Amino acid sequence: MKKVFLTRKIPQVALDELNNICDLSFNNEDRVMAKRELIVAAKDCEVLFCLLNDTIDKEVIDNLPNLKGIVNYAVGYNNIDVEYATSKNIAVTNTPGVLTETTADLAWALIFSVARRVVEADTFTRAGKFVGWAPELFLGGDIYGKTLGIIGSGRIGTAVAKRSVGFGMKVLYVSRTSVMENVPGATKVNLETLLKESDFISLHVPLLPSTKHLICAEQFNMMKPTAYLINTSRGAVVNEEDLVKALQNQTIAGAGLDVYENEPKLAEDLAKQDNVVLLPHIGSGSLETRTLMGFICINNIKAILKGEKPPQVVNDFFYK
Ligand code: GLV
Ligand code: GLV
Repeated sequence: MKKVFLTRKIPQVALDELNNICDLSFNNEDRVMAKRELIVAAKDCEVLFCLLNDTIDKEVIDNLPNLKGIVNYAVGYNNIDVEYATSKNIAVTNTPGVLTETTADLAWALIFSVARRVVEADTFTRAGKFVGWAPELFLGGDIYGKTLGIIGSGRIGTAVAKRSVGFGMKVLYVSRTSVMENVPGATKVNLETLLKESDFISLHVPLLPSTKHLICAEQFNMMKPTAYLINTSRGAVVNEEDLVKALQNQTIAGAGLDVYENEPKLAEDLAKQDNVVLLPHIGSGSLETRTLMGFICINNIKAILKGEKPPQVVNDFFYK
């Protein structure tokens, strides 16, 4: 059977299925592998099954001589040098679609938590500080009837927008290419208008050279002082140092973050702010979705091993 190397354990049912279709080896330790270790362990593999925090660059690709495919267990694939892989006739695949609704749910979890100060209030209550109802205890911002600004109107951005209907929100969005479908009343605007008019700004663009630091000091200064920034996309879309300053100076009201510029490190003083909710990159983290992502990867692996075009290939020009 053909050799596949997996860089970290995924949910068991997917792992069992994977064992049935290939000669699988994987990193048994529940941690990210160092690049050197990965190169040694994956040496003979035809398919490298990797995670969004494995950097698959030229050096890794050059050291895996049998490699036919790089199968990423994520929708985002900024961790892979796709151009170089393509030049070496190596397919690259991702997991779009299955994680859309799960990630949209988490964006909303961040909207609720940061606006209504859920995490701060929970910490307070657990600490035994709740001594009775008080008129000004943990006052937050309303969600109902406010304006939701979506930056990036792909699958996830659209799913976040759809959820706002029950909250009577006005939806604005920015998109370079597409029109947001099936969200009645959603209005396409330019970035400046979105930043100036939205109460909640949620990021749903992939990380590309053109989206790196899309949100910096200049953009924070355009936002309302009552606005909240939500990021479930990639950390580097935001200049995190500028974000810390915007939170410290109350240029904006708060932020809900699932991703960080230098993950897993947080910018200095970010965790000292009360007006942020900080999650450890769990956007797609439901058991159902992480299992389904495993099966999408398995279908991609099966196709690559047969020399066929994988269903979720991102460098598909290479099959033409
Ligand atoms: C998660 O961040 C993903 O890209 O799947
Ligand atoms: C990702 O799946 C997106 O298109 O938002």
